[in-house]
Amino acid sequence: MNSAELSVFIRAIGVHAPERKLTNAELSLMVETSDDWIKSRSGISERRIAGPGENPSDMGAKAAAKALERAGLKAEDIDLLIVATMTPDVPFPSTACLLQAKLGLRRDIPCFDISAACSGFVYALQVGTDMMRSGAYRHVLVIGAEKLSSVVDWQDRTTCVLFGDGAGAAILEATNVKRVGILGNVLGADGTNAELLHCVAGGSASPASAETLRDGKHFLRMNGKEVFRLAVRVMAESCERVLAKCGVDSDQVAWFIPHQANIRIVEAVANQLNVGMERFPFNLDRYGNTSAASIPLALEEAWRDGKIKHGDLVLLVAFGAGLTWGATLLRWHEPTL
Ligand code: ACO
Repeated sequence: MNSAELSVFIRAIGVHAPERKLTNAELSLMVETSDDWIKSRSGISERRIAGPGENPSDMGAKAAAKALERAGLKAEDIDLLIVATMTPDVPFPSTACLLQAKLGLRRDIPCFDISAACSGFVYALQVGTDMMRSGAYRHVLVIGAEKLSSVVDWQDRTTCVLFGDGAGAAILEATNVKRVGILGNVLGADGTNAELLHCVAGGSASPASAETLRDGKHFLRMNGKEVFRLAVRVMAESCERVLAKCGVDSDQVAWFIPHQANIRIVEAVANQLNVGMERFPFNLDRYGNTSAASIPLALEEAWRDGKIKHGDLVLLVAFGAGLTWGATLLRWHEPTL
C-alpha cells in the first residue's frame, strides 16, 4: 500500500498539570481584579502553576509517560518526537532533545520543537502526520508543553489572569483502515500582526540585559481586544475551510475542541458556525489558557469523560501568537474496537 494513503490516528493521549492551583480569589490579592471580572470576561476560575524545577520538559515527560502506558508502548517504540512550545526550558537545545533524554527515547531518532504558540499542537499534529505518511516512522510522539507562568507579568492584570501551565501528549500511529484518524487540516499564519501578542526581549535581537529586565521586556504583552476579534474570525474560518476540504458538514461533527483561551471567543465561534455550545467541551475554567497544551488537555478530558467515542468526528481548532492558526478534522479511532 502506498504510505501516502495510510490513515494516521491518535493511538493514545496523556496529560499532566501541576498540582498548584491559583484561584481568582488569590489573584485578586496580587493585582486589582476580582473573581467576577475574570469569570465574566474569560470564563476562567483557576489555573495550574508549575513549581520551581517543574519545566515544560518535566510536565511533557509525565504526559508522554501516561500516553505510552495507555498505548501499551515503550519509550523505544517512538521513532520521532515533536514538541510544540512557546516557553521552552532553555533557548537551546530544543525542549524535544531534553525530553528525548528524560523519556529514554532511542538516541538515533529525530527530535525537534515547533514554535507556533497556541496553534503549536495543531501544527505539530500535522507535521507528524505528514512525516508518518513518508513511511519512515511507525510511532510519532507529539507533545504540547507550556510554562506560561514564567513569561507572564504578574503585575499586569490584563494578561496574568488568563494563562496557566500544563502539558499534553499524543502518540500517532498508522493503520490501513481507510478514512480514520486525521482526515484533513488547514494551517495559516500572518506575521504582520506579530506585535499583537509577543515578547520583545530574550532573543538575539534584544538579549537579556539589566535594561530589558528593568523594563519588563521579557514578559508576554498582548493587545487583548484585537486578538479577541481576530481569534473569532480566524477560528470560525479555519473550521469552515477544513470541513469544506474534507467534504463534511458541521452537523456531522460530534465534538469541537477549540484552543481554550476565552469562553467568549468559543461562544462567538460556535455562534458563527451555528453549532450549540454543548458540542464544545471545555476545561478553560480550571486550567486557563495553556497555549500549546490546551487542546490536548481538553481533548484528553473529553475522551476520559466518555464523550468522545470510536467513530466520532472531532474538530480541533487553534489560534495564537504569530499570528498563527490551524484546524484538524479527525475521526476518533480505537483500534481494539
Ligand atoms: N481585572 C479587572 N479589570 C480589568 C482586568 C482585570 N484582570 N483586565 C483589564 N481590566 C479592565 C481594563 O483596564 C478596562 O478598564 P477601562 O475600561 O477602565 O479601560 C476594562 O477592564 C475592560 O477591558 P477590556 O480590555 O475592554 O476587556 P475585554 O472585555 O476586552 O476582556 C480580555 C479582556 C479578557 C483580555 C479579552 O480581550 C480577551 O480574552 N482577548 C483575547 C485574549 C487571548 O485569547 N489571548 C490568547 C491568544 S493565544 C496565544 O497565543 C497565547
